[in-house]
Amino acid sequence: MKFFIDTANLDQIREAHDLGILDGVTTNPSLMAKEGISGEDNINRHYLEICRIVDGDVSAEVISTDYEGMIREGEKLAGLHPNIVVKIPMIRDGVKAIRHLNSKGIKTNCTLVFSAGQAILAAKAGATYVSPFIGRLDDVSTDGVELIAQIAEIYSTYNFQTQVLAASIRHTMHIVQCAEVGADVVTCPLEPILGLLKHPLTDIGLARFLADHNKLSDNK
Ligand code: E4P
Repeated sequence: MKFFIDTANLDQIREAHDLGILDGVTTNPSLMAKEGISGEDNINRHYLEICRIVDGDVSAEVISTDYEGMIREGEKLAGLHPNIVVKIPMIRDGVKAIRHLNSKGIKTNCTLVFSAGQAILAAKAGATYVSPFIGRLDDVSTDGVELIAQIAEIYSTYNFQTQVLAASIRHTMHIVQCAEVGADVVTCPLEPILGLLKHPLTDIGLARFLADHNKLSDNK
């Protein structure tokens, strides 16, 4: 299972990269705005900065919602760097845009997916990734992890090549649950990734090992 970080914050991207487990990055317009990045040139420069840190797929989202606009933006974004994946919303023109970009060899990430039906359409259109938003489903008392399992099963039955990228991850347990049900990728903020490290028995065990080692060294 691949690990992507879901942020446009360069320090957090560097920190996750330094851990040695980072496979890529996802961003969206809200995450770019959170970092205060606006204007096409600044946004494009920021994507390039991210691509310099991480040697893996970097999702860059289009702002247009019409077919021509998405194609125009998508082709421009893809031209920035070979690792850019064009993020396209799951809307009617988006499906058409994914099909077109796929035929041009441009990688896509179909975003804002909340149902298995939408995921089937994304795969039929040839999306490289499909992004079901599990946290936002949980927020409205619908089981987000269950959707990941459903999509993974359908894709495996029909041998769809689209990778299931579990998005909108809110906590560490989401990552473990997505791994259990066969997500190809999880994208999450830094905190849930670091949460995977934590276990009190690890801390207690390490403290004991070091204390025992030091006792012997003190006696010498
Ligand atoms: C990533 O591709 C999504 O845009 C992101 O995970 C959404 O997360 P949120 O629901 O926490 O905003």
